[in-house]
Amino acid sequence: MSTPHNHAKPGDYAEAVLLPGDPLRAKWIAENFFEAPRQVNSVRNCLGFTGTWKGKPVSVQATGMGQPSLGIYVHELINVYGTKTLIRVGTCGGLNARVKVRDLVLAQAATTDSGIVKDRFGPYNFAPVADFGLLRAAADKAEARGFRYHAGNMLSSDIFYHREPGLEGYGALLDHGVIGVEMEAAALYMLAARFGVKALTVCTMTDCLITHQEISADERQSSLKEMVELALDVAVGA
Ligand code: HPA
Repeated sequence: MSTPHNHAKPGDYAEAVLLPGDPLRAKWIAENFFEAPRQVNSVRNCLGFTGTWKGKPVSVQATGMGQPSLGIYVHELINVYGTKTLIRVGTCGGLNARVKVRDLVLAQAATTDSGIVKDRFGPYNFAPVADFGLLRAAADKAEARGFRYHAGNMLSSDIFYHREPGLEGYGALLDHGVIGVEMEAAALYMLAARFGVKALTVCTMTDCLITHQEISADERQSSLKEMVELALDVAVGA
């Protein structure tokens, strides 16, 4: 059985899947890091690949941008393809001057403005959180490799272009220690919780909304490589 968004067959994905937003990044990961990569999905050009890393099966599936798009791929990966470990590899904006361009941000938790989380918990504000084992493994590996990293609260926003200029669109979040902004982690964590699987989001900070520092093209490529290698090691337990 395939799905409207994915023509892979059950068994085509490994139990551990990396999730970049960008389809060409999924292809780049498969071609540059996987041993024996094979393409398993191309519907809507939202590319998916399976191969091995350090001899262990692993897949990569692009999610597109934003929580509705990620939600479709993640729901199907878990419920149709049997995925057990999902690691988003992405970029984030910085919301704290302590976080420098190139630093790794591990989304320990994800705050969101999205209805995708809001409408399901009655009077409760559900707190989407990373799997602790994956988070600990990522932090340990970042530490061992001498990477600058931060574990903290990520904002997963449905809005890239806020109506309010500058930082105003982020309201009280800055005062409450939110360290970065991206557009997918909260939905990933909520779905992982719902279906009893493990998830983590690892981001490279590429543009600081406080200092307006931005990553260079060279830095983007090298930090991406380090992040992908770390995420693959965490994914397969290497
Ligand atoms: N906002 C949302 N997502 C992002 C950003 C941002 O500033 N930078 C990288 N991903």
